[in-house]
Amino acid sequence: MKHSPVSLLVAILIAATAVASFKSTSHIATARRTRQTITRLSFFGSSSKNLPKPEDRTYPEAKQATYDLQPGEFGFGPEQIVRPLLKQTQLEKRKLQVVYDAKKHGWSAQAFHSRVDAKGASVVLVKVKGRWIGGYNPRGWASLGGSRSSVAAFLFYQKLIGWQKLRVARTGSMACGRDEFDAGIYFGADSLVIPLIGQRPKSVASRLGFYYESGPENKSTMLPRAGEDATASELYVISGVYAKGEEIPNSGGISELGFY
Ligand SMILES: *[C@@H]1O[C@H](CO)[C@@H](O)[C@H](O)[C@H]1NC(C)=O
Repeated sequence: MKHSPVSLLVAILIAATAVASFKSTSHIATARRTRQTITRLSFFGSSSKNLPKPEDRTYPEAKQATYDLQPGEFGFGPEQIVRPLLKQTQLEKRKLQVVYDAKKHGWSAQAFHSRVDAKGASVVLVKVKGRWIGGYNPRGWASLGGSRSSVAAFLFYQKLIGWQKLRVARTGSMACGRDEFDAGIYFGADSLVIPLIGQRPKSVASRLGFYYESGPENKSTMLPRAGEDATASELYVISGVYAKGEEIPNSGGISELGFY
């Protein structure tokens, strides 16, 4: 059988068209598969609970404290009293413990340091004339001398209902103004000071506006009377509970990275 050149050309053309259309359908199939993969990936990315949310990738204490409170816990101990204040801190979800109780351990700087050093982030809770005041020190104490700063430190005082937090007034305000074994509590140089030494170890001083803000009530002190020291009736330091062998942030020198 003999083929004419024309019929041969037609046959080649038909074959070429078939190959081209096969190729194009396979392209479409590939594109569809790719689209499905992308859809699956973006679905996975947008809804997966396994992937960290962007806000989880930054440390809570790389920024100033929030004024928001968090729900409390049942109970009347110092740990339960301070719990609402710890939103957006490294202690937010951690079990808490009283590491220093001045009545039990002594109203002295040495007793204070022997109990709080190397315990990491801590809350100071003081009762003055029936009202609670205090401060959060994310850096803790270590009796290493010098000061320990944190942008996330804050002071707080009890209002008729709830709490008022006072943020650091400038970056690097001191969470611990004097980290010395024979010095008591110093938030800033003068914002909340309980020296725990001398004739009046329960003496409390507070001056706001320089290291810590004066707050919405524009207070010059957290104490009942401006320009006058007060006397503490109770004093506690509350720290986190850590598992055996678990690293306690800032238990010694403070983190170079400045996250905590
Ligand atoms: C806050 O109080 C200080 C005095 O302690 C005063 O000089 C200042 O004007 C007050 N600021 C406001 C906004 O009321």
